[in-house]
Amino acid sequence: MAVRRGGGYRSGMANLLREASDGVVLLTLNRPDKLNALDYALIDALSAALDQAEADPDVRAVILTGAGDRAFSAGADITEFANSVEAGMEPALRDFVRRGQGLTRRIENLSKPVIVAVNGIAFGGGCEVAEAAPLALASERARFAKPEIRLGFPPPFGGTQRLPRLIGRKRALGMILTSEPIGAREAQRIGLVNAVVEDEALLGEARALAAQIARHSPAAVAACLRSVTRGLNASIDEGLAIEATQFAAMVPTRDIRDGIRAFLSRRAS
Ligand code: COA
Repeated sequence: MAVRRGGGYRSGMANLLREASDGVVLLTLNRPDKLNALDYALIDALSAALDQAEADPDVRAVILTGAGDRAFSAGADITEFANSVEAGMEPALRDFVRRGQGLTRRIENLSKPVIVAVNGIAFGGGCEVAEAAPLALASERARFAKPEIRLGFPPPFGGTQRLPRLIGRKRALGMILTSEPIGAREAQRIGLVNAVVEDEALLGEARALAAQIARHSPAAVAACLRSVTRGLNASIDEGLAIEATQFAAMVPTRDIRDGIRAFLSRRAS
């Protein structure tokens, strides 16, 4: 169901709200009474919404945030995945780990920028979602933590792999092995988020960032995202080859000609 509102519309299942306007899709994790914990239905709904955003040529960026004023997401739904763990190794990997890893990989791999707007607690899987996103803004009340060790397992949605790449091995292991939360300013200082903004300004700033990116060629944006994300996990030589491939894909396009021509005509005038 979609309800038209001005230039946009709202829709979505109860656990995930979707609002689209001006080429930006705002997705809101909507289980505030459970601190937006990611149960399987929410993970699946979010993955499906990202697939939809990828396929829709009108969508230029995705913003992901949490409902309520306490949490972005307190992580995977412990009550639910406890049953998968009880069921044994194969169900635990299939239903819990691979599902969550699939979600963070989707966020990381989307050809359109995903901006997470972290409006509060980002613990466990909530933190891993923020790690996977190419861009992240935090409000003053955001807090990040890796509490999985308290539950007796390592972070399972990519957190042992992306966090060290993002903030360095020792800082990552400091968070992973102690489970101590860090605040928004510290998260910015160590490179976990791009910027910290006032609580009320969070979505406005996320929209402004999305609009800045949306001014550029979608194909060039996708090429930048692919080049950085793929290259990050490759050797420097492989990374340079990836970069060259992404550049080569732009050479036959109008976008590169328009961009260069716009610059040259400004200089000539
Ligand atoms: N999974 C399932 N339910 C969760 C949850 C999670 N990850 N995190 C919070 N909730 C639920 C609580 O069970 C509670 O539900 P209830 O009111 O029906 O009892 C509700 O959300 C509010 O949480 P509560 O613990 O009462 O809030 P708090 O302010 O006392 O504590 C946290 C906040 C984040 C410190 C605490 O909820 C917590 O430690 N959550 C688990 C975080 C975690 O380990 N995440 C990693 C999972 S892999």
